[in-house]
This record gives sequence, C-alpha cells and structure tokens, in this order.
Amino acid sequence: MDFTPELNAYVLAQATPDDDLLAELTKTAQATLQNPQMLSGTVEGRFLELLVFATGTKRILEFGTYAGFSALTMAAALPEDGRLTTLELSQEHADFARGFFDRSPHGHKIEILVGPALDSARSLEGPFDLVFIDADKDGYVDYYEVALEKLAPRGLIVADNTLANGGVVDANATGNAVGIKRFNDHVRADTRVRSVLLTVRDGVTLVRHANAG
Ligand SMILES: C[S@@+](CC[C@H](N)C(=O)[O-])C[C@H]1O[C@@H](n2cnc3c(N)ncnc32)[C@H](O)[C@@H]1O
Repeated sequence: MDFTPELNAYVLAQATPDDDLLAELTKTAQATLQNPQMLSGTVEGRFLELLVFATGTKRILEFGTYAGFSALTMAAALPEDGRLTTLELSQEHADFARGFFDRSPHGHKIEILVGPALDSARSLEGPFDLVFIDADKDGYVDYYEVALEKLAPRGLIVADNTLANGGVVDANATGNAVGIKRFNDHVRADTRVRSVLLTVRDGVTLVRHANAG
C-alpha cells in the first residue's frame, strides 16, 4: 500500500488534534525556526503520548528537543510527579522550547540540558522508563548505547526517523540515511534486545531489553 497524500491526510484526521498551545508552537516554529520539518507533529505526537500513558512511564530521556513539540506531548501523559529530561545542542532551540514549556500546565515536569547530547546523557543517572532518540542521526548508535545502559528493566527505547525518508533501501544513500542504516543494523544485530521498526511517519523503532523480568 502506498501512503498517498490522501491517505496521510486521512491518518492525520483520525488523530486527536493538538491543543491550542501545541498548534501555536507548530505555527511559530514554522515561521521562525530553520528546518520546521524536524518537528514530529500530530500523528507521531499522539503516538508518543499514548506510549507514555500505556507504559505508565514516569521518567523520560529525550535526545533532541528542537521546538519542544515531542517533549510537551509526552509530558502531557506523565503523572504529576513524572519527569522528562530533554537534551539539546542549540541554545536557540532550547530557548524557544522553554518559552512554550513555561506556558504549559505540564512544563514543570520538563528539564532542558543544553550541550552535546552524548555528554549530557552520560552525566545523568538512570533508570529511565522511556528514551526518545531524535537528535543528529550520526549519533544514534552512541545515544542508543547510553540509553540501553540507563534503561529501566521494563523500559522502552523509541528511535525516530528510522526509515530516513526511504533512504534505508537506497544503496547509494548519503546524509542522514547513512547514520540511520548504521543504527538499524546495529539494533538488529543486538541480541540484548527485542525490536520492531514501525511505519509511523518517517519510521519509529521500538526497543526493549530481551531479558526484561
Ligand atoms: C529532529 S529535531 C528534534 C525534534 C523533536 N524531538 C520533536 O519531535 O519535536 C533534532 C534536534 O537535535 C538537535 N541536535 C543536533 N545535534 C545534537 C547534539 N549533538 N546534541 C544535542 N542535540 C542535538 C538539533 O539542534 C535539533 O533541535
């Protein structure tokens, strides 16, 4: 089945729409930030929100904040004492996101650490119930290794863009697809985990410890 524009529009219409703050965040990011296509958007946002809810997640680690869309949508499904730590290299992106977190009833659950995500992640103490990997694609294997180390026994790693716009099946692919292919091969060969790549948006891979109790 091909995902035609009509089918994508249909899928979008089936998702609970973004609330007013998320809609404003999206509009403002599109008008003022570079690369607004990096924002995960309504369908993936609802997917993440439902994953957080269904797993009873209390601690989240996110690699790559950008405008704060995925952080806000996941934070909305956390309990009051839940915490989300999001890692971002760009001060501009962190400031943009913080401005929206401060206006959200869920913003107090979110902490942003500015700097290279690998260094920040290494400095954090686990365990995390859910780790969302969505920063630079070259870093995915390293982020995954730190995430797995700090993942709760029954936790979930969620990695975004694992289809790389179809580049994963292009033998001559360059750019992001190279890092993503390396990541997909790494996960598939890893006997410590069980995983699946879902065709949500640009591909979302779910990973858990194989030996979860
Ligand atoms: C795809 S966007 C994140 C989108 C966001 N998770 C969402 O779904 O709305 C990737 C972000 O990772 C950040 N980034 C890139 N390299 C990074 C690094 N080495 N450390 C931390 N953040 C990085 C970029 O500045 C960008 O804001």
